[in-house]
Formats: sequence, C-alpha cells, structure tokens
Amino acid sequence: MYFKMDQKFKDYFKNNLRQIFFYIIDDCNLRCEQCLYKLEIGFQLEKKEVDFDDAIKLLSDFREMGAIKLTLMGGEPTLYGIKENNKPLLELIKKAKELGYEYVRIDTNGQFNSKLLEQPEFKMLDEITFSIDGPNKEINDSIRGYGSFDKCVNNIKRAKELGYNIDITSCISKYMINRDENGNLYLDRMIKFAEDLGIERINFHSLFKTGVPRDYFSGNLDITVNDWFKVWEEIEKKVDNKEYKIPVRVPQSFTTKKEFEKNPAYYGYCSCKSRSRILVHPNGMLRVCSLMIGTPYGIARYYDGQIKWDDSPTNELKAHKFDEDTPCTNQFKHNKFGDFVPTCVSFKPKQEELVWKELEWERRRIEKKNSKIKTVIGFTDKVVQDKVIKTIEDLDFVDIIGTAKDGEETYNKIINLKPDMVFMQYNYNNGINGFDMIKKANTHLKLDIPVFNIIDNNVPNEEKHEIIHLIGSKMNSVLEKQDPYEELVKDILKEYREYDFK
Ligand SMILES: C[S@@+](CC[C@H](N)C(=O)[O-])C[C@H]1O[C@@H](n2cnc3c(N)ncnc32)[C@H](O)[C@@H]1O
Ligand code: SF4
Ligand code: SF4
Repeated sequence: MYFKMDQKFKDYFKNNLRQIFFYIIDDCNLRCEQCLYKLEIGFQLEKKEVDFDDAIKLLSDFREMGAIKLTLMGGEPTLYGIKENNKPLLELIKKAKELGYEYVRIDTNGQFNSKLLEQPEFKMLDEITFSIDGPNKEINDSIRGYGSFDKCVNNIKRAKELGYNIDITSCISKYMINRDENGNLYLDRMIKFAEDLGIERINFHSLFKTGVPRDYFSGNLDITVNDWFKVWEEIEKKVDNKEYKIPVRVPQSFTTKKEFEKNPAYYGYCSCKSRSRILVHPNGMLRVCSLMIGTPYGIARYYDGQIKWDDSPTNELKAHKFDEDTPCTNQFKHNKFGDFVPTCVSFKPKQEELVWKELEWERRRIEKKNSKIKTVIGFTDKVVQDKVIKTIEDLDFVDIIGTAKDGEETYNKIINLKPDMVFMQYNYNNGINGFDMIKKANTHLKLDIPVFNIIDNNVPNEEKHEIIHLIGSKMNSVLEKQDPYEELVKDILKEYREYDFK
C-alpha cells in the first residue's frame, strides 16, 4: 500500500470495494444546466486536476482492496493533462489496465479532438460513455450548449468506426418526459436514437429536487414524482417485453411505500451500505454517495500520503442506519413524497452492470415467501447424485423439480424448468461442461439464471474467476468432493432461504 490508511477506512470497506468513480479534473469545456459538478468546476482553492502520482498510488491501493472497475470522469476527463496532449490521461488508462482493473471506462461530454480516439492507450478503454441529453440538437443543445450535439455525435460515429464499446448516458429532464407530435415520448426516442447509432447500451440519470444540496445548483430541468412514475412504468414494460434492441438502464428513483414494505431488502439498496464504491476527487475528498457532491460531506480525505477517516460531523455515513433496510437516507430526510419513498440513485432494476451483477441484487427482487426452493440435480456419479437427493429430500422448504445424468440433460432441465438452484458437477465426460453451461444459461435466462452449486474437484481457477464475473459470487459456490458436501448443501439451501426471505 502506498497510502497510510486509517484503520476505520479499511474496516469500512473490508473486502467489498469493487468500483472507483475517479473525478480526475475539476474543470470542463461545457456548462450544462443540470450539472451536479458545477461548484467544483466553478471554484477550487488549489488543485484543478488530481496529482498524477497520487492517482496511480490510489489506483494501486484500491485495486489491492478489491476494486475491479474504474470510471474516469470529472468535470471533463478528456481535459486531464490537455496541455501535454493528454499524456497523463493516456498513462492513467494504461496503468489502470496494467494494475489489473478489469473494466476501465471514461464518461465524457464528447467534445474532444477525435484524434484522441486513435491513441493506443485510449483504445485500451473497455467502454466510452458519451453524455447526450436529448435525441436532437434542439433538446440537447438547450441543456449542454450550442454545437455540443453535433460534436458529440461525430465522435460517437468515429468511435464506432474504430470499434469502441460505446454507451450513451442521458439525463431525464422535463423535456424527455414530453411527447412529440406523434405521441412518442422523447425518452423513448432517445433510446431509438441510441439504437440507430448502433451503440451497445443506454443509461439514464434522473433529475429530481429531493431535498439534497444539488437542488440548489442543478438548474430547473427536474420532473415530478407523479409524472415520472407513469413514464417509468411505460418504459419498464417495454424493457420487460424486450421491445428495445439494446439494454436500457433506468433508475427507478421512487417506489410506493407499500411496495417498499413488501421487499425492503431489495428496494433498500444503498451504495453506502453495500460499501462497494468510492468517489475520489482532486481536492482530497473521498466519498460514497454522489448526492453529496458539492458539499463538505464525505468519508475520508487523502493528502500527504495518508488517508484520514473523517470522524467529524461531516462524515456522510453518520445518518445511515446500517442494520436496517431503509429508503434512500439522504433523500428521505423530509419524507415529503406522499405515497412514494425515494430509492438510491444507482438503483436501476434488472441492470446488466458488472458490480450490480456481482452483488446479485436481483435475487432479492424475486418473492418466494410461500413457495419452495426449486432445484435441479445433475451428476453422472450415482453416489453423489443419491447423497444430494437424500439431503434435499429431508428439507421441507425445498423441491426437487428435475434430476439429470449428464451435462446435456442438466442444461436442458435448467433452461426448461427454470429452477432457483442447481447442484451439479463441472466436468461431464461428454457434451457440455460446467463453464459452457453457465455461459449459455446466462445468455438465455438472464435474470432467471439459477444459483449454481458445483461439486467437483477439478474446476480451473481462471474459469472460476470468469464465472464469478458472469453470475456473481455471493450465492454461487464450488465445493470439493472430499468436503462434507451433504452438510454444505444443507447450509447453502438454508442460507439461500434466509437471503431471499429477508
Ligand atoms: C458530471 S458528468 C462528468 C463527465 C462528463 N463531463 C460528462 O458530462 O459526461 C457525469 C454524468 O453526470 C450527469 N449529470 C450531470 N448533472 C447531473 C444531475 N444533476 N443529476 C444526475 N446526473 C447528472 C452528466 O449528464 C453525465 O452523464
Ligand atoms: S459536460 Fe459534464 S462536467 Fe461538464 S458541465 Fe456538462 S455534465 Fe458537467
Ligand atoms: S443515493 Fe441514497 S441510497 Fe444511494 S448511496 Fe446515496 S444515500 Fe445511499
């Protein structure tokens, strides 16, 4: 570790840290009306950019603590080291990949010189996210500034030609919930616009005034809860019916009190409680909740080679109830939303996002209060098969809905019967093996993917890691045959019941 860290900082994250939002620069070449970063762009006491050496050391330390995903942002990250032709930015990307970050992305307004896209280090990015706030210049440029739409779209097209993995991110302003002369929601048109550009996916941020500091400096483009809920339901239905060609990530933003009470473990998602992310700023601020941007609230400060935990009243975690599933702590202070309660700004149901998937949060969505856990069991070894069946038959909260004797049969039962859990071996003598089975089932079943429990002595380590990234590590498990696996099977099922029924 390069930084001398307070124990409280280490204790807070333990081994949960997965992603870094690195605000590498407090400067921008646009002045978007809704911008949450306005105060930092407008004023710094000293540093505009994160010190390059500090950046590398922080990346290295956080990687050691478990971070795998990095987002470079700001301000406008493509201005980082602009006087040196972006050399520091390019070095940072390269270094992050060398340090083992699996997913490095940049979040940009797309106004940069397109030559940047041709730099080999830039090509190491796993994703470029371009921000556009409307499907046409009229809407986008009224928010982001004259000419910004054309510049950004040109860079998206160039990036596409060069084979980049591209995402668009868009704010849901009051314009987006309007309809055009044909009755189409502009939000819907935004999704179609992204599809037509041939990009990989689209992500949205919502703009509300919810009693948080940014209400005062993020313009007047916000929408009301009632208006949003109608639109959200319309879009969500289309997502569920698979009407869009690309994945769409929409923040739910609110849910009804009734719905929250039915499933607090699901709706109570909070990044401060999951401890999976950190926001890093050039002025030394380390924080978790993005709603606290522009305030003195954070969890710690880094400076002079140290990370100092904030023990003062400005520690943003002070108001959080860590042992309770609550609506969003920072937005719920006034409880002024009638029948609705606010959810986390990062709560985007059913999203196909690396860390969300690793947390396996979607499993909490499925309500099975009165139903049994449905299992499929697939072993060629009759002894193991019988032992697992016998163990499961003893548990009154579990149903065996299918058994199989080889890989092919196991796979078909998973796809056709959609169990909650599978107990199987990894290496089948012929046909499909465990790795291919999980990959195929993941593509086919998406959110209906079961929990996989593998009892096998020969699962290659590198495949274990890939599996974790595909389907997460919270519930899925690999057991060795020499372990007392019957007892472990029992424990796994009990744990699953607890996890789901929380
Ligand atoms: C602060 S910007 C920094 C990166 C870059 N300058 C850009 O615009 O993409 C990161 C993202 O936050 C979004 N954003 C700006 N103001 C926001 C607000 N008030 N609420 C939610 N998201 C906001 C931007 O549209 C952008 O997609
Ligand atoms: S481009 Fe990004 S950082 Fe710059 S003003 Fe717009 S939202 Fe803010
Ligand atoms: S937005 Fe709310 S729920 Fe999300 S991290 Fe911040 S306080 Fe937690």
